Amino acid sequence: MIGKDIFHAANLLKQGDVVAIPTETVYGLAGNAFNTDAVLKIFTVKNRPHFNPLIVHTNTIEKIESFITSFPQELKKLASLWPGPITILLPKSNKIHDLITAGAAHVAVRIPNHPLTLELLSNLDFPLCAPSANPFGYISPTTAVHVEKQLGDKISYILDGGQCDVGIESTIIKLNINNKIEILRTGGIPTEQIASITGYQPEIEVYSERPDAPGMLKSHYSPSIPLIIGDINTLLENYNTKKIALLNFNKPVQHASVIFQITLSPKGNLNEAATNLFSALHELDASNAEIIIATRVPDIGIGKAINDRLMRAAANKHF
Ligand code: TXA
Ligand code: MG
Repeated sequence: MIGKDIFHAANLLKQGDVVAIPTETVYGLAGNAFNTDAVLKIFTVKNRPHFNPLIVHTNTIEKIESFITSFPQELKKLASLWPGPITILLPKSNKIHDLITAGAAHVAVRIPNHPLTLELLSNLDFPLCAPSANPFGYISPTTAVHVEKQLGDKISYILDGGQCDVGIESTIIKLNINNKIEILRTGGIPTEQIASITGYQPEIEVYSERPDAPGMLKSHYSPSIPLIIGDINTLLENYNTKKIALLNFNKPVQHASVIFQITLSPKGNLNEAATNLFSALHELDASNAEIIIATRVPDIGIGKAINDRLMRAAANKHF
């Protein structure tokens, strides 16, 4: 069921149930982080492997400090971006179960910037584990209806906060052994903004397929139709015998094989493109096309995160 009742959502969460919640990035599938059964239920509903750890969400730094052992100064500077689309890896105390971190010593934490969810969190005396509310490996949801379509039969409540503003998951950062900020996942906070706070260019870990360094699986966000990225005109020539769905950045393309097409931002605005990205992928996937063709966007600001998601959505797809 979809609704806007935060007290109903809070009651379900207090009983150990899972509830989909809105954030400014994507919808999350939330459960009580201090209740192992609720945490296990998140993995089951998402069909998510246990080696992939969960982000813990709450609404104040004081609450965060109650379940970590220290908050290094270098990372605290970045916490000034909360509430907002940044997730910080911090050393966990034993209040955080190993299930949440997949056995790692650091827990990923964030304060999301969505009025409904902040109000919900302020009514709870426990934090919420929340991965994106999609079946593992599939396209992330940016509306309550996306969640309903993907997980509606498995969860009892979806808290409807409208369309997610940012539209792309949070940027994940950690402190490396040299005490420097490193980006584990590009996301809603652009790398340039992090660099201007730290005073240096953070390293970006592109992806990993090692289960002991989870988080960045190469293939993710995948539609069920094969998605290919590259130069649009070349791809249109290569696949002109197929029914094509096309994702362009700011200008529609005319071609006889294109049966459906979405423009991410007619004005060429990267923030608007990010807001629309996952909705567009959901729609393209629901078309009758045999293949989705997409182009990269300019690789600056949030464009880096858009290109990252497109690359992962296109990974491992053979045609
Ligand atoms: O914007 C977001 O971050 C959204 C909303 C719901 O907050 N959440 C989200 O969660 O994207 P999820 O689970 O779909 O992606 C979280 C990523 C995963 O790739 C996971 O492996 C990584 O964060 N992660 C979580 N905890 C970690 C940890 N302790 N160490 C390393 N990576 C971690
Ligand atoms: Mg996800």
